[in-house]
Amino acid sequence: MDTLNITNGDIILEFIYLLSALFFVWGLKLLSSPDSARRGNMWAGAGMLLAMIATIVLHCDSSGDPIKGANIAIILGAIAFGGIIGGLIARRIKMTAMPQLVSFFNATGGAASALVALIEFSNPENQSGLVTLLGLVIGSIAFSGSMIAYGKLNGNVKDIFTKWMTYINLVILAGLVFLLLFILFGNAPEETRQILVYVLLAGSLVYGVSFVMPIGGADMPVVISLLNSFTGIAAAMAGFIYQNQAMILGGIFVGAAGMILTLLMCKAMNRSLINVIIGAFGGGGAGVDREKGIVKEVSATDAAVMLNYSSRVVIVPGYGLAVAQAQHICSEMDELLESNGVEVKYAIHPVAGRMPGHMNVLLAEADVPYEKLVEMDEINPDMPKTDVVVVIGANDVVNPAALDDPSSPIYGMPIINVQEAKNVIVMKRGMGKGYAAIENYLFYADNTRMFFGSAKDSLQKLVTEIKAL
Ligand code: TAP
Repeated sequence: MDTLNITNGDIILEFIYLLSALFFVWGLKLLSSPDSARRGNMWAGAGMLLAMIATIVLHCDSSGDPIKGANIAIILGAIAFGGIIGGLIARRIKMTAMPQLVSFFNATGGAASALVALIEFSNPENQSGLVTLLGLVIGSIAFSGSMIAYGKLNGNVKDIFTKWMTYINLVILAGLVFLLLFILFGNAPEETRQILVYVLLAGSLVYGVSFVMPIGGADMPVVISLLNSFTGIAAAMAGFIYQNQAMILGGIFVGAAGMILTLLMCKAMNRSLINVIIGAFGGGGAGVDREKGIVKEVSATDAAVMLNYSSRVVIVPGYGLAVAQAQHICSEMDELLESNGVEVKYAIHPVAGRMPGHMNVLLAEADVPYEKLVEMDEINPDMPKTDVVVVIGANDVVNPAALDDPSSPIYGMPIINVQEAKNVIVMKRGMGKGYAAIENYLFYADNTRMFFGSAKDSLQKLVTEIKAL
């Protein structure tokens, strides 16, 4: 009778895992549009909650015993502890620090999977040695790499680029592969294998650091999405160890989504994936020094006249728009111009801001209709017939050095070709550089006018002036 109950419990548990997976899929589907993204997050979260409750209530070990009361108390305590800390951080974090937070959460996911693998390696019942060690390596790289990415996004960690870094990374990677194979097939005594697993852990942590450390500023988006994918793969490996369908499916979704995003980012940056994995690309160099020319400023009144009497205006949002939290006033200016007969579009660069889709999320928050956001490839051909481009807090994504300076670290990265428009107005606080820390000669071009000030104040002034026309 007992056996029958356990079997029924197992079947119900597997069915609930399948249901959770459907929740994940539906959540992912809704996440594909800013309008439904919030609901998508709720669906995916609900799927995870369902899987967790079902596991606690229905899971039985290999002898058919349910989870012991004491262990349930520890699990619930851990969930409460993590939930409260995570909830507090997420509530208090400033919108501008969101990219760092995402990297930090990604790091914790990698660490959790690596710890599962570390503990389970010494479990005699665990038959999946290769998967366990792969989970340990990938989870550790995701952890230490994401912590370095966190530091870089937060401005605490600087790029370290030497031409030797590629070779150092290759040597560490080869060492990790050798060690992993030796632990599995080397016939070493059990105690030695247990020690070597810790060496593998340490080596993987070092590799995570050495592979992210030299990535040049503007190339960070590729590495961030790759680390995201690593965390998903490591979680799927942990799922294999426990034969837990929900973990396997959830991990594979994250891993696959992260890998697709990585490939999209590689395309956006015009880089190859192999360069990212070996590391040490995009760093170093500052571009050639050229004649700078004169910076020409524009007053709020003149800028308002230029915009109001244009037929076609393109807004290029960048990281500075997020810093200034100027999305609402930007949307107000857009509506005002549209009501005066000006066609207004937004040009979205895939790596503008500090996280994938940053500008889409920001503008969706201000209810800018999704149809007005035009991808870089689609809007670039229209640049020559655009009367005024307004660059708001963007820098690297409109830097023409990417097109014409082979010595620049961003050379080869496609940009929004604002330099081809009839007039360009750049809104920023001063002559500060962008994330890649290089000079931008767009600011000195003949058709560029600088409008200095924090984006929110500058846009407010423009709105007042346009209303007065
Ligand atoms: P950035 O190149 O970072 O330039 C932002 C500009 O905003 C700065 O030059 C700054 O100039 C200005 N700014 C800052 N605060 C402002 C404010 N309150 N008001 C007005 N302007 C302000 O931005 P971008 O063009 O969006 O490029 C993104 C960069 O980040 C790329 O290099 C990209 O590769 C990198 N990155 C992206 C990601 C993802 S996934 N999107 C992740 C990591 C790194 P002032 O100081 O003069 O005001």
